Amino acid sequence: MKTIILLLSLLAFVPSVRAQQIDLIANTDGRKTISLDGKWQTIVDPYESGFYNYRYQPSDNGYFKNAKPKTKSDLIEYDFDSSESLQVPGDWNTQSDQLFFYEGTIWYKKSFDYQRRPNTRLFVYFGAANYFADVYLNGEKVGQHEGGFTPFNFEITKLVRDTGNFLVVKVDNKRRRDAVPTLMTDWWNYGGLTREVKLIETSTTFVHDYLIQLAKGSRNRVSGWVKLAGDKLKQRITIRIPEAGITKTFATDGNGFAAIDFNADLKLWFPENPKLYEVVVEVETDQVRDQIGFRSLETKGTDILLNGRPIFLRGICIHEEAPLRGGRAYSREDARTLLGWAKELGANFVRLAHYPHNEFMVREADRMGIMVWSEIPVYWTIQWENPATFENARNQLTEMIARDKNRAAVVIWSVANETPLSDARLSFLKNLISHARSLDATRLLSAAMERHYLDATTQMIDDPLGEYLDVLGCNEYVGWYDGLPEKADRLEWKSKYQKPLVMSEFGGDALYNHHGDPLTRWTEEYQENLYRHQLAMLKKIPFLRGTSPWILTDFRSPRRPLPGIQDYWNRKGLISDRGEKKKAFYVMQEWYRELHEKGPDNAKDH
Ligand code: GCU
Repeated sequence: MKTIILLLSLLAFVPSVRAQQIDLIANTDGRKTISLDGKWQTIVDPYESGFYNYRYQPSDNGYFKNAKPKTKSDLIEYDFDSSESLQVPGDWNTQSDQLFFYEGTIWYKKSFDYQRRPNTRLFVYFGAANYFADVYLNGEKVGQHEGGFTPFNFEITKLVRDTGNFLVVKVDNKRRRDAVPTLMTDWWNYGGLTREVKLIETSTTFVHDYLIQLAKGSRNRVSGWVKLAGDKLKQRITIRIPEAGITKTFATDGNGFAAIDFNADLKLWFPENPKLYEVVVEVETDQVRDQIGFRSLETKGTDILLNGRPIFLRGICIHEEAPLRGGRAYSREDARTLLGWAKELGANFVRLAHYPHNEFMVREADRMGIMVWSEIPVYWTIQWENPATFENARNQLTEMIARDKNRAAVVIWSVANETPLSDARLSFLKNLISHARSLDATRLLSAAMERHYLDATTQMIDDPLGEYLDVLGCNEYVGWYDGLPEKADRLEWKSKYQKPLVMSEFGGDALYNHHGDPLTRWTEEYQENLYRHQLAMLKKIPFLRGTSPWILTDFRSPRRPLPGIQDYWNRKGLISDRGEKKKAFYVMQEWYRELHEKGPDNAKDH
């Protein structure tokens, strides 16, 4: 009897046949969508009593039922509609002082009506939910997703009704040892439905996904694929690039898949001229339009070649911290502000740390001509031996590549940041790298690796991971965690590999408008002095092909409590949390201006 009850209660958690998770739908911008952004009713549930019963068994009568008392005697102990609301997209931590430090579960509920047209399908799409999301529609489980920074979608065609739909999402941002990221990070664990939520309506057979980019190392051959989903899988695909007068047709196979390959004389995308073409993918039952740039990428010895020419990545690291207001950034405006500041610095490259940022960031980078390093949060001490942790990291990598594989701006996929050497770590990361290469053969692979002192004045890059990367990434804090700024003057850098290096982090903290002599920590003068010594050291590294100082703006971190200076902000920004530029900003700007004027990648050579 007990087993039957247990089985029945577990059944509540098996996604019902009426809803399913499907691979990410490509390019939601080019489709019929209905936004579910705005106010959502919420219930803060630290003990997850809306999910588990008092025996800590999953309950099949949880808050996802959105129950209402039917009679005066009915006992219902929650009510979404008279509860607080939160804005979506948005983290919960900066929307209420009570939730500033909150880590746990919050239930979100959104009601909507939807008249579905005949011969259409309906999906619910989340830009991201930090960290673990359980999704229900009209009281039925639709699916779940782990990972706070990548999109996911579920089909709800069979579940949706004309009126009175209620979408309920349990979002839990509790940190776990086996998760990705794991327990310790130097960024705020902003929780919630942090990016847009929308409904996507498609025809019964639709263009599910596609990759349309130049073939590896080619500047005139477009190569990729198109995948249909639905019941009419064998169709004729037409790819059109109207501005270039290109129309090509291909046929899908029984699985709805077509490889595409054709020669094309296209204007190439590069920072000074970020050319995007409208590309139309058309089948009898569907049409999708996208804005795509075409460029080739390779490495040759210690050079990085963009469209066949050596390039220097004049970069800056960025956290997804909303400019000027703090909290998780999510909008096109946030992206334009952050990337605008990077442009002002003279950057042609940004390292989006340490997780995939929202889609507006990469699409604006495409438009503004800024190359992107995109990374999954395999950060510090991940549980390397845990197969579930690996599956989770691999899934986040899959979703990152799925969303951004058609963005010319994205040039580097990074699989890790500052991860300690071990055999388990190496095999974990090697497997991620080969997975990335199997999904996308066109981009460069990197990671922020370890380095060590060979002797008092020699830094050595011989992390075994370097063997499997195209571009070496290295973080160093000479002058901040490692000695005083002038120490950099005595340092020489060596590498075991004939590969290009991007110094993926360096820098130090300064509180804006806090002044003193150049050796007084936390002052703008100390940071400025540190940058001067850093640049002198960096200029001497023969295989250096890029820099991304840590970091564009101050960002929140639970590891930074120093009162009156940090107040839970990491102050390594070149710009303060209020948008004020620190002295070191101009030191970096000056070097990037010089590099741009005389560097290999100035416009006229392309
Ligand atoms: C590390 C790390 C960052 C961190 C930075 C710092 O290198 O990669 O995430 O914020 O150092 O200490 O400021």
